[in-house]
Amino acid sequence: MQKITIAIDGFSSTGKSTLAKQLAKALGYIYVDTGAMYRAITLFAMRNKFVGVEKENINALIKLLPKAKLKFVFNEQLGFAEMYLNGENVEKEIRSIEVSNQVSRVATIEEVRHKLVDMQKEMGKEKGIVMDGRDIGTVVFPDAELKIFMTASPETRAYRRYKELLDKGDKVTYKEVLKNIQNRDYVDSHREFSPLRRAEDAIEFDNSDMGMEEQFDRIYNHSLRVI
Ligand code: C5P
Repeated sequence: MQKITIAIDGFSSTGKSTLAKQLAKALGYIYVDTGAMYRAITLFAMRNKFVGVEKENINALIKLLPKAKLKFVFNEQLGFAEMYLNGENVEKEIRSIEVSNQVSRVATIEEVRHKLVDMQKEMGKEKGIVMDGRDIGTVVFPDAELKIFMTASPETRAYRRYKELLDKGDKVTYKEVLKNIQNRDYVDSHREFSPLRRAEDAIEFDNSDMGMEEQFDRIYNHSLRVI
């Protein structure tokens, strides 16, 4: 069977990564969560106190970028890859609300995007990959054989994310999560470099009223028709 590239883009908390992970597993493909890469660079910036919007902070972060070494390491027990920053497993820290509140700003920096897009292109050279993010179908793999653009209402997404964070023991309020999602939607779709938008040839998929199983079945069957 020929291997293809599958690009999954969409707004925050649309369930992209859950679906992409399941799809990659079923097809025997590699899964790459590009959001984790932007989150790890944000954590790196926060640890070095370079997160402000001021030009000095941005320039200092750009200068220090070569020192941020990112790596995905597959965890056999969990069945997916975890993000390492300079040799340290940062999977938990990069999902915190503090990082979520800063990540979209860091993701507007052109040099950060170049560094990460180059790494992503390299990872997908051999195809057989499912990658999720905001610019995968438009910038990283404009020639991907299958492109999916996922949407759901901000309230539905905030509720899902809120429940997820509560389950993990994070003390957050629904209002705080909704605000974070709305802010990220705005920044992600209005930034100058590779803003979030649906690629013309992407299939739009609104999952506001759809369970995970139905979503997976539909997309899996569709991908088999493309392969
Ligand atoms: O996918 P996730 O919500 O973890 O992504 C976190 C943030 O990283 C997004 O809100 C966006 O600002 C940024 N991002 C991006 N391009 C990608 C993936 C994520 O700008 N390909």
